[in-house]
Amino acid sequence: MSVATNSPVPESLQPFLSSPKKMLIGGKWVDAKSGKTFEVFDPASDQVIAGVAEGDAADVELAVAAARKAFDQGPWSKMGGSERSRLIWRIGELIEEHADELAQIETLDNGKPFAVAKAADVALAADMFRYMAGWATKIEGNTIPIQLPYAPESEFHAFTLREPVGVVGQIIPWNFPLLMAAWKLAPALTTGCTVILKPAEQTPLSALRLGELILQAGVPDGVVNIITGFGETAGAAIASHDQIDKVAFTGSTEVGKLIINAATGNLKRVSLELGGKSPNVIYDDADLDSAIAGAADAIFFNQGEVCSAGSRLFVQKGVYDEVVAGVSEIAKNLKVGSGFDASTQMGPLVSREQFDRVTGYLKAGVSEGAEAAAGGSALDRPGYFVQPTVLKNASEDMSVVREEIFGPVVAAMPFGDEAELVGQANNTAYGLAAGIWTRDISKAHRFAKAVKAGSVWINCYSVFDAALPFGGYKQSGWGREMGHAVLENYLQTKSVCVSL
Ligand code: NAI
Ligand code: MG
Repeated sequence: MSVATNSPVPESLQPFLSSPKKMLIGGKWVDAKSGKTFEVFDPASDQVIAGVAEGDAADVELAVAAARKAFDQGPWSKMGGSERSRLIWRIGELIEEHADELAQIETLDNGKPFAVAKAADVALAADMFRYMAGWATKIEGNTIPIQLPYAPESEFHAFTLREPVGVVGQIIPWNFPLLMAAWKLAPALTTGCTVILKPAEQTPLSALRLGELILQAGVPDGVVNIITGFGETAGAAIASHDQIDKVAFTGSTEVGKLIINAATGNLKRVSLELGGKSPNVIYDDADLDSAIAGAADAIFFNQGEVCSAGSRLFVQKGVYDEVVAGVSEIAKNLKVGSGFDASTQMGPLVSREQFDRVTGYLKAGVSEGAEAAAGGSALDRPGYFVQPTVLKNASEDMSVVREEIFGPVVAAMPFGDEAELVGQANNTAYGLAAGIWTRDISKAHRFAKAVKAGSVWINCYSVFDAALPFGGYKQSGWGREMGHAVLENYLQTKSVCVSL
């Protein structure tokens, strides 16, 4: 691993950074009712970059009133699919027109390399709005022939309507701030819902810029409201609010369970995209060069702060040493530094808290008996930098194998045969994703059927597309993001029956 030099924040971002960071409620930018603000940090330097309005329950109250009004009475509820579609498409275009600026904001706020922010976060966010724009005109029910057993002579015309679920609270994390906002907002808008969005307290900036673009696109006041603030205050007020019809959450499994409990008051709908500890499998018959590069990418992409990261690497015994050596070699050569340095391949972790969590796991792994074949510690410099790390001699009872680390740390374990592998791969509370590398297509497909995970990648990893559903089995969540599957999260079905 080599260290890139620290590059300064682009001058062009200064006007955005120095403007006051208010919340979007009912089409207006407002301060928190309490007048409080909180600080946002540059993870590459540990310096404060902005102060942002600290919303809490009182501000959520105002946002819910605005969203309710827009849903119950506003122009939004009367707008046809074609017009909604045009607005949503326009948001995608505006994201693309501001791609450099949005990617810079993301790099500054989250730490990720600028090239990654632009090619992945920003491009996928624009594409998500474009994909979802198409659905606004294609939300259809069915006509259903019925005949009553107890009145066979009677005749009916029966059909279903698909209606928006209503006012939606959306609580998102810090690992892909803009993209997570897009995954949530685009399907809510296409189905005709209104929204209160709460970005993560670590990374609120790109959502605020997106809010400006959403207004610029012409989305009516109150349809999208953005509350910045902390989870325990603003987030909890959203999850428990009895005038919110649904909450969509992405984040930790622990908080996902709190959300479910908070939602019981009015039995609001809940969808959850939670943590993972995904198995990535390499067989001895794989194309080892691409499998090794793929395994490194599966864990080091985005500093390992990816819910579907391939954090448990299972390698068939005969090639275990070769694969561990290969992934370790890549780890040692990765350029770690400021996301604004063009040569940087891996940035800092998002926050001091996440840095403490990940370095805590590095210590725990070694004390439980694993050995660092690459990395293993923090970098001695300002900012929240850790080394890309490969742990070998890991076993299933270790915390680094059982728990989500959410950092650039992979635990490599050998396996013997297929039967042993499937048991090991599924030995987790999570079920978000899985990868397999082999030239034997039958073996690959058998694994795809046997593994309990919402996404399976064969001879590839981390392939995301707006059209492809994504979400968890087991404790990785409820419901799906993206694809037409996500529409289910935001629609409900009404059956209408007419006597003829
Ligand atoms: P978190 O789950 O606490 O935060 C995610 C979002 O939930 C943030 O917007 C936060 O403000 C909000 N939140 C927190 N507590 C809440 C509450 N009681 N009610 C309503 N909203 C609440 O995640 P955190 O603390 O940032 O990270 C902890 C661990 O969670 C990470 O190490 C990682 O393992 C996991 N995580 C998983 C993510 C995923 O994409 N599945 C994303 C972020 C974190
Ligand atoms: Mg938390």
